[in-house]
Amino acid sequence: MSNWVEQIEAAPSLAALEELRVAALGKSGAITAKLKSLGAMDADTRTVEAPRIHAEREAVTSAIAARKEALEFAELEERLATERLDLSLPAPFAPTGSIHPVAQVMDELTEIFADLGFAVAEGPEIEDDWHNFTALNIPEAHPARAMQDTFYIEGDGHRVLRTHTSPVQIRTMQSQKPPIRIIAPGRVYRSDSDATHTPMFHQIEGLVIDKGITMGHLKWTLETFLKAFFERDDIVLRLRPSYFPFTEPSAEVDIGWSTEKGRRVVGGSEGWMEVLGSGMVHPKVIANCGLDPDEWQGFAFGTGVDRLAMLKYGMDDLRAFFDGDLRWLKHYGFKFLDVPTLSGGVGA
Ligand code: PHE
Repeated sequence: MSNWVEQIEAAPSLAALEELRVAALGKSGAITAKLKSLGAMDADTRTVEAPRIHAEREAVTSAIAARKEALEFAELEERLATERLDLSLPAPFAPTGSIHPVAQVMDELTEIFADLGFAVAEGPEIEDDWHNFTALNIPEAHPARAMQDTFYIEGDGHRVLRTHTSPVQIRTMQSQKPPIRIIAPGRVYRSDSDATHTPMFHQIEGLVIDKGITMGHLKWTLETFLKAFFERDDIVLRLRPSYFPFTEPSAEVDIGWSTEKGRRVVGGSEGWMEVLGSGMVHPKVIANCGLDPDEWQGFAFGTGVDRLAMLKYGMDDLRAFFDGDLRWLKHYGFKFLDVPTLSGGVGA
């Protein structure tokens, strides 16, 4: 009997213990055989043997239970010691998205203009006719109001999807006291679609209202902004007389380009491309907002954010900006940690 108990107490694993249990107490186990043999004994022998055999079975059964508990405890201890979950380990890096170039460029522009003292202003994308056109001195018969350019809200003759960010000029002059220095980035809508036009695109508006503001302030601001944005000092601007109903005088701004390694890049003055609309805010527009145009003057400008992104980062089809193609987004997108800063270079 002690032989079984000794073996059980020395069993090295639960599997070895199970083998011993089967060998002793299983259907054809040694102790089971002894129990079966009781029936064939004569009464006297059985009186002596039965308590011994039962006692042996008891001892073996409880030894197995004790060893099992000990082995299971040891196994748990072992697992607790080895299967450690170290929460201080860095998680595997798995980037799943990217910052769209339009969002990145808007952040770059915001950073540049914040440094020049401009705040960010916003307005609704569903605008009313007055803010989008009338207050901006766009007469009833102006072609910009024609059905082919403007998306009108059905059943309501007065609401449109804003066709430019200029209505934010109006809303800002109505709600803030001058001096005003704001930029207004956002979505705009026009019924137009080809490689360089999409029905929805992005503009950024700039507005300065103060005393004694001149075209010189406008030109300096645009030059400073475009040099910072393209991260080049050889940016050359050309202001061309133009017409916008809400500015007088008005100027379209061209940026000079040159050829580097067979590619057309911004900078220099080999040729020109148009990048901005601008001018001195029309006195009528200032008056429409309840300000005295004899006291307050200012300049305004507007430019396409998507176009600036294309020029800086080299995409050639605007439509791809809004296709949601993951390969395009992976190629042209930015890491979420590429936050533009002036000190780090706005291009990140
Ligand atoms: N709103 C004009 C456009 O969409 C751009 C512009 C803004 C021109 C401000 C002058 C001043 O084309």
